[in-house]
Amino acid sequence: MGKNILLHVTGSISCYKACALTSLLTKNGYNVRVIASEDALKFVGAASFEGLSHNKLETSMFGNDDPIPHIHLAQNWADLIISYPCSANTINRLAAGLADDLFGAVCLANNFQKPLLIAPAMNTNMFRHPSVQEGLKKLEGWGAKILPCGEGELACGTTGVGRLLEPAEALEYIEKAIS
Ligand SMILES: Cc1cc2nc3c(=O)[nH]c(=O)nc-3n(C[C@H](O)[C@H](O)[C@H](O)COP(=O)(O)O)c2cc1C
Repeated sequence: MGKNILLHVTGSISCYKACALTSLLTKNGYNVRVIASEDALKFVGAASFEGLSHNKLETSMFGNDDPIPHIHLAQNWADLIISYPCSANTINRLAAGLADDLFGAVCLANNFQKPLLIAPAMNTNMFRHPSVQEGLKKLEGWGAKILPCGEGELACGTTGVGRLLEPAEALEYIEKAIS
């Protein structure tokens, strides 16, 4: 039986890479369920994640077939949780311990029992902002694994740190963390 990967996707221009990671994971025998933030769905549609994961997309804590999705996903289903791409907004929200959306509640309910990987992706200034750097340090101190960002040309036209890790590299980190 393949292991269960809970993939969280946020509103980043690099969201399309989450489709590639979903595809890679399923091809490598993992079961994948995707949680998308409201803004992630402005970049990539639900049909892509559902078609590639073969599972219904999760977007909300309410109105699901499962009446307590955050607890069941975090404590019963997931073997590993990854936020890829993880926006500046979500890093700050997670570092504040907010649980007013499905992924925030999943992270609190998981409480670092299963590996939590964070793959930041954003403009260089956003990445270097003290709130993001302190948020990442805080999450790491609590038990999250912060994946490195690539450096190079960014979608916004600038060059620097903040590129999302490539899907194949993310897969390597997942395999290492889950083994
Ligand atoms: C075209 C475009 C690209 C964006 N790319 C990023 C990004 O790569 N990283 C990021 O942190 N925010 C990015 N943003 C801003 C986020 O979408 C915004 O902060 C949003 O509220 C994030 O919400 P979420 O974390 O709930 O998904 C982008 C916005 C736009 C309009």
